[in-house]
Amino acid sequence: MIWVFDAYGTLFDVDGAARQAANDDPSLNAVWKALSADWRRKQLEYSWLRTITGEHADFWQVTSDALDWVSEHHGVTPEQSARLLDLYRHLPAYPEVPKMLDRLRSEGGRLAIFSNGNPRMLDDAVTSAKLDQRFDALLSVETVGEFKPSARAYGIVTDHFSCAPGDINFVSSNGWDIYGATRFGFRTIWVNRMGFPVDRLPCQPGRIVSDLRELR
Ligand code: LAC
Repeated sequence: MIWVFDAYGTLFDVDGAARQAANDDPSLNAVWKALSADWRRKQLEYSWLRTITGEHADFWQVTSDALDWVSEHHGVTPEQSARLLDLYRHLPAYPEVPKMLDRLRSEGGRLAIFSNGNPRMLDDAVTSAKLDQRFDALLSVETVGEFKPSARAYGIVTDHFSCAPGDINFVSSNGWDIYGATRFGFRTIWVNRMGFPVDRLPCQPGRIVSDLRELR
């Protein structure tokens, strides 16, 4: 079986940068949760807008631009902002991830990441989380220069594995990503870590789990 994982929010904890920055600098304690949520929202907004308008910039640029907006909005200093951005390169994996990846591999699974992240971001994330021996491929939308949920982006995965969309088990914590992947033809598993309602979109997730331990 081929298992393909979204990176940020699915394997890596996107709140990890702001949480660690607040641990290091208590002046961020009151704001880090709102800052992290706003950062993620702005990052995704910018990715969707850039793909809709055709004005692509890579995910590191989009993540940095979103942080600039959030830093002004929340009164974060340039030094704190630089620390937050550096921490984004080294986000922690969710606790269940290493064992789950090892189990899927032991069952003969082929594993890949498919992410908006650029190749360097993915290398840094996988290496710093000590997951670098577990994946057959780290696939980035930079191959086509369009962010998810663009259909051209998901085509990177089927091109890499020379397979049909239905041969891919795609795992993501992002409802919008699951929508795009489902309509592309992947078998989708939505990791609903936050217990959110199902998105009101034309396609529904193939399966819903609360964390990766439920993957079978
Ligand atoms: C990714 C983000 C969108 O890894 O979660 O592609």
